Amino acid sequence: MNIGFLASHGGSNMQAIIDACKEGRLSAAAAVVISNNGDSRALERARTEGIPNYHLSGNTHPDPDDLDRAIMDTLVRHNVDVIALAGYMKKLGPKTLACFRGRILNIHPALLPKFGGKGMYGIHVHEAVIAAGEKESGVTVHLVDEEYDRGPILAQVRVPVMPGDTPEILAERVLAQEHLLYPATLQRIATGEIVLPAR
Ligand code: GRF
Repeated sequence: MNIGFLASHGGSNMQAIIDACKEGRLSAAAAVVISNNGDSRALERARTEGIPNYHLSGNTHPDPDDLDRAIMDTLVRHNVDVIALAGYMKKLGPKTLACFRGRILNIHPALLPKFGGKGMYGIHVHEAVIAAGEKESGVTVHLVDEEYDRGPILAQVRVPVMPGDTPEILAERVLAQEHLLYPATLQRIATGEIVLPAR
């Protein structure tokens, strides 16, 4: 199973998946990394790991249609079976979505459908969870469709919210679980335990 990554910033989830492949916990290969941010740590990690990597963005391709086609072509060229969005802050274009429909995964740092949708990213998610007085948060791995954070849920894990948690402390506790759930869910796909919708 060839995984193609799209990441905008740190890429710690991507790294957790790469490490799982290297350690034999995940029967898959990291085929390519694409980032919309030429300076991202995610691209740096890809270079360190010797994984083909590309900066594709509105800077490299000002026309959104061209960018969509470039992203799709790059994924196809590297024989990607499954796309793992790993902190990717852009929406995918219609060509890429259609070409990989049912094979695009995302990880979200909360228990969807709660605390998802527009504006619910990064620290804002954890701020909202704490402000709502939730006793638990969690991690969701789901399939991606045209809408933010809306596709079918593949896996979730719960994470307690402790009294006195700041958004930053909660984010750290959640991220540690993300690094376990994302590779584990991909492995369930690789083994056929989770069957992705037919193309
Ligand atoms: C994670 O919290 C993930 O849930 C969200 O974006 C963040 C990415 O972090 N989609 P990293 O780049 O993997 O470190």
